[in-house]
Amino acid sequence: MKVFCLLFLLLSASACTSSELKSFTPGEVWRDNKGVHINAHGGGILYQNDVYYWYGEHKTEGQGGNTANVGVHCYSSKDLYNWKDEGIVLSVMPENSGHDIEKGCILERPKVIYNAKMKKYVMWFHLEPKGIGYRGAKSGVAVAEKPVGPFTFVKSLRPNAGHFPMNYPEEMKNAPDRTEGLKFGGGSVPKHPDLLNIVKRDFEGGQMARDMTLFVDDDGKAYHICASEENSTLHISLLTDDYLSHSGVYGRFFVGRFMEAPAMFKKDGKYYLIMSGCTGWTPNAGRSAVAPSVFGPWTELGNPFVGEDSELSFHSQSTYVLPVQGKKNGFIYMGDRWNPSNAIDGRYIWLPIRFEDDRIIINWMDEWSIE
Ligand code: DGJ
Repeated sequence: MKVFCLLFLLLSASACTSSELKSFTPGEVWRDNKGVHINAHGGGILYQNDVYYWYGEHKTEGQGGNTANVGVHCYSSKDLYNWKDEGIVLSVMPENSGHDIEKGCILERPKVIYNAKMKKYVMWFHLEPKGIGYRGAKSGVAVAEKPVGPFTFVKSLRPNAGHFPMNYPEEMKNAPDRTEGLKFGGGSVPKHPDLLNIVKRDFEGGQMARDMTLFVDDDGKAYHICASEENSTLHISLLTDDYLSHSGVYGRFFVGRFMEAPAMFKKDGKYYLIMSGCTGWTPNAGRSAVAPSVFGPWTELGNPFVGEDSELSFHSQSTYVLPVQGKKNGFIYMGDRWNPSNAIDGRYIWLPIRFEDDRIIINWMDEWSIE
């Protein structure tokens, strides 16, 4: 009898450690069902058949952990507090294989959407081929039959090759590209981007694509939203119906504003973006914007973060805005608190979004729950 009681106590204790979370504690270690800190950075969420799937960058220890040594990690949850480890759903390829996603490449901000027509799960991510820093500025695409993968790599590309943006001035299309001899840093271009005509430079080979997200509208149309033109300008592109390619229909927005970390959502028929400035792994003041359509016109709404440390977005950078199922106007800001010197220890900042008229407001909370 004693042995039985002891066993019972041990079993109930272990059950508690894996499924007892009833609140979010932003910035704290967030343990999965195995007791391990969740490893899904720069992530996004897919909601499918009553289950939330969280996909993100699997980081490893140390500074080298910022490059892709493993792949994309997936977790599943029914309540958003407790997450089950579903393993690596897209694996990097062996070192020196020469593959687009070989170990040591940079694979960031993976997002997954479901294509009902094709009955396929489609993943897009920011891809930098190994060894060239952030100069590649490409997008990667992978597909799967099931939300928990395995995902198969399809291709990497530069978006919209051979197409000008819908809102590119006619005179620019014929003007020369003026980028020759210029060196670009991450967060600045030596002149206003329109004077440089970076779009023209990249017309043949495709436009640059770094920080990115995906957005699926109510009509099933999907969009790829990314930092382009040496990070200076955001591009929003309509994807083809199978979600696997760019349609060639795209626009450029926030010209010269260096928006990174875009996260798009829709509320009451309006489109919203939460973004950041461009300062590497270091946090900066968040930004937000609203528009009557995906292709604008976009109106900036300012920093959505309010209160102490709002100028640093509570030490976070946006990655996704999650509509909570069954909660009208319930949206969660998902951000990363990067730890560039020990990438695996990056933390997650999830906070509720409030609206004051059109404005997006995010307040800090040590602990909160959806209920
Ligand atoms: C900021 C981006 O938002 C991150 O995804 C990452 O690319 C870092 N820059 C790298 O410095």
